[in-house]
Amino acid sequence: MNDKNQIARSRKFLNDIINKIDDPIFVKDEKHRWVFLNNKFCELMGRPCSELIGKTDHDFFPKEQSDVFWRQDEKVLNSSNADVNEEKITWQDEERIISTKKTLFEDPSTGNRYIVGIIRDITEIHFARQIERENQKQIIHADRLKNIGQLAAGVAHEINNPLAVLYGMIQDLNEMPQSCNSEKAEKMLHVARRIKEIVQSLLMFSRQGESGRSDENINDVIKDVLMLTSSQLARNNIELVRRFSNDLPHLHVSPSQLQQVFMNIIMNAVDAMPEGGKLIISTTVANSIVKVEFEDTGYGIPEDIADKIFLPFFTTKEIGRGIGLGLSISYGIIEDHGGRLEVESKPEGGAKFTVNLLIS
Ligand SMILES: Nc1ncnc2c1ncn2[C@@H]1O[C@H](COP(=O)(O)OP(=O)(O)OP(=O)(O)O)[C@@H](O)[C@H]1O
Ligand SMILES: [Mg+2]
Repeated sequence: MNDKNQIARSRKFLNDIINKIDDPIFVKDEKHRWVFLNNKFCELMGRPCSELIGKTDHDFFPKEQSDVFWRQDEKVLNSSNADVNEEKITWQDEERIISTKKTLFEDPSTGNRYIVGIIRDITEIHFARQIERENQKQIIHADRLKNIGQLAAGVAHEINNPLAVLYGMIQDLNEMPQSCNSEKAEKMLHVARRIKEIVQSLLMFSRQGESGRSDENINDVIKDVLMLTSSQLARNNIELVRRFSNDLPHLHVSPSQLQQVFMNIIMNAVDAMPEGGKLIISTTVANSIVKVEFEDTGYGIPEDIADKIFLPFFTTKEIGRGIGLGLSISYGIIEDHGGRLEVESKPEGGAKFTVNLLIS
């Protein structure tokens, strides 16, 4: 076989392979003209390849759309970095989502530069991702509702005592000389304020899955959670020890999501100490990380389940007491904040959960 034949054969071989690829492929020159296209691309455009070669996006797409493609081409030509973009296009009267990866190819023999593009139809993946995100949101919300249910009893108990005090004070008030009234009123105001704070924190917690971020001192986020859980700890004979650092920088976080994480960890600690015990909550800052540690003196986590506790629906609790979502949701939330949620079982018994949050 002579050289010419051999070249023709290998060219055909390469062409066949490229046409076999099920993703649309195009090559553009520096003037944005298509110089090479595979069959799948022409199929996507709904035209024979011969009609497309030498033309540009401007000849086929609305100006708004082709301007976007043009700018992306320029970006690749100017920076020589690969560029990936996701776009909505209408194909055969159907809206599709495509992802296009463009890379620069410089022909060493001529010095000419080309943009090589591969298009992937990611419509199904895109919607699957959207559904997954939606499901995730609903799961987080369900966990929140469950926590609110558990908290409601505790909060009712918590406000019941100050309410009884307040009631008694109001009854006394009429029987007292005028001079005592202002002191008594001051006390009543204090008790009423406490009730208001508790109810407000429950309301805040119940607000639906807010993920908006703001600059927060993590100590304050924990304090909000303790406002709702401290009575539950006390009723379960759990001594609460707070070791809060005074030097915490503000972190850009979703306070409501972090409340949910801390709530889950504290509730688990309560469950792990049915006979009472101690819960130490400490915050520290070192090496650009804010650390929040929850150490309990409960039954601890046996080694054989330590790697499973973050899995969704893993629970060792009896039916009706736990569904196994708390830690998996918390893990996701902390990851979403660019942090890490870790656990260790202490040799002397009990568990320690650590939330590491990066200072950005
Ligand atoms: N502080 C802890 N001490 C001992 N075991 C723990 C502790 N925290 C979590 N676990 C273990 O991890 C498992 C998973 O916890 P997770 O919070 O995800 O689910 P759950 O508490 O069982 O149910 P849910 O949180 O959905 O009500 C628990 O069932 C328990 O076995
Ligand atoms: Mg739990």
